Amino acid sequence: MVRIYAVEDERQMSRKAANLISAQVILKPDAVLGLATGSSPIGTYRQLVEWYEKGDIDFSEVRTVNLDEYLGLDGRSSASYRRFMNEYLFGKININIDNTHVPNGLAENVDRECRDYDRLVEELGGIDLQLLGLGHNGHIGFNEPADAFENGTHVVDLTESTINANARLFARREDVPRRAITMGVGTILQARKILVIVSGEDKARAVRDAFFGPVTSRVPASILQLHRDVILVADAGALRLCRI
Ligand code: F6R
Repeated sequence: MVRIYAVEDERQMSRKAANLISAQVILKPDAVLGLATGSSPIGTYRQLVEWYEKGDIDFSEVRTVNLDEYLGLDGRSSASYRRFMNEYLFGKININIDNTHVPNGLAENVDRECRDYDRLVEELGGIDLQLLGLGHNGHIGFNEPADAFENGTHVVDLTESTINANARLFARREDVPRRAITMGVGTILQARKILVIVSGEDKARAVRDAFFGPVTSRVPASILQLHRDVILVADAGALRLCRI
């Protein structure tokens, strides 16, 4: 079931999402949070940092697993998702860095890295709350539109649409890696609660197709309609094509 919180703008979206995440951490201090990168969660992470600084949230026992990482990028490289997480969140709160996990983009044996990542999620006891952004083409994590859903963590070839959308974070478009490691939809769907945040009119079609269209691997996020506990926090622009 998808519950929709319609908010006015990105600021409100971030505040609502941060509220839901902090509620999870307060209820279960050693919660396992599934985290995302990209533009969508930046405001949410800022809000969490602010509340942490005020002494309202304690992350000391929290464990995290990120959705994805580019293949071929060192965790120290400025465009890597590990670096993003350290900069926007982990480096600014009292989380134990050893309890934060991002797929290793430099793994020598990527198949083993994928298997180990799924095992890690299992060993952590599964994800309590998974935060997701939504790609313009309906992707979640880096699960791109395809003929079939992919269950576990796997390597993907990024689509041109995703490469273009992410090129802003690189000096040159040619620098954007063509492949990434991503959690599969099976792993994502096993999260006990899923929180999707979407802002802006440019995502309106993706929101409509994902949450109001048929469930299809051509719109990977549409599979979320089958999960029992999804919250979509979306602003007016993102909901422009939905009648709610
Ligand atoms: C990032 C991720 C992606 C993004 C999506 C939206 O870890 O998994 O699925 O959530 O591409 O990106 P933004 O928020 O930059 O529009």
